[in-house]
Amino acid sequence: MTTLLATWREPGPIALEAAWAARTRGLDLKSTIEAGLAACELDPTLIAIGLGSLPNADGELELDAAIMDGRDLSAGAVCSVRGIVPVISIAKKVMEETRHVMLSGEQARRFAISKGFRPQNLMTEENCRRYAEWLDTPEGTTDSYHHAIDGNNHGDTVTMLGLEDGPHTVAASSTSGLQWKLPGRVGDSPIVGAGIYADDEVGCAGATGLGEELWKACASFRTVEAMRRGLSPLEACRDTIRQMKRRQVHATDMPCVVLAMNTAGEVGAATTIGEFPLWISRDGTSELKIYTADEA
Ligand code: GLY
Repeated sequence: MTTLLATWREPGPIALEAAWAARTRGLDLKSTIEAGLAACELDPTLIAIGLGSLPNADGELELDAAIMDGRDLSAGAVCSVRGIVPVISIAKKVMEETRHVMLSGEQARRFAISKGFRPQNLMTEENCRRYAEWLDTPEGTTDSYHHAIDGNNHGDTVTMLGLEDGPHTVAASSTSGLQWKLPGRVGDSPIVGAGIYADDEVGCAGATGLGEELWKACASFRTVEAMRRGLSPLEACRDTIRQMKRRQVHATDMPCVVLAMNTAGEVGAATTIGEFPLWISRDGTSELKIYTADEA
């Protein structure tokens, strides 16, 4: 059995379809998940991540991604990468072809080019239009960071978790971060322990939503460790979210979401506010599950 999870209503099915197609071609779990996230990044019509997603306050896309292998806790990540996709594939190369965990900015871009990635313009007509619209708002000329943190901006990350027989787990995430963010800002997604975590002894977890708060909570690591103590994935996610709401005053400024899967294939998720749609695919058959904040 191969179980794959992908976040959010619109990108989730695109990620799962590409991932399952890769799986049926015989790819291993890491490459399966890479294929899912890469498909979302390369789709110019999908505003969520990668090509055509929403840029920072300077009108430039700065992309973050990470992948973690639960077999030996190896991990690779990139942050603030401009002008190259898919960044999840660069992160995987960092994991597999260097002794490092993370490369950033221009140096990550140079590493990618040295590995055969081709630079390209990631701005499309549609995201240029949206950026120009935002520039015309009062927020566009004043406080971009606080504008970025509003309740409507939460579909900007695709996080995937995978489990195969073994048991073996992989967690990965790709994001363009908060729209209109301060240039140079990095959130939880490329940070091991914050945006993703995987350990074959226990299971895996991921996050999506307001990266600053998820990072402060070490949300993914915390959730995996709660499962290690015996909590189900659902209870572990709720435990993390309850703790965030209790300790972090900004945890409800925007949705903060954790999702988790244990080595038995049980799945759970929780969010600080609103509702969170999670796609779950078991051997290619997908279902959508909605988690609401009042359940946590
Ligand atoms: N969770 C994505 C970000 O805050 O960058």
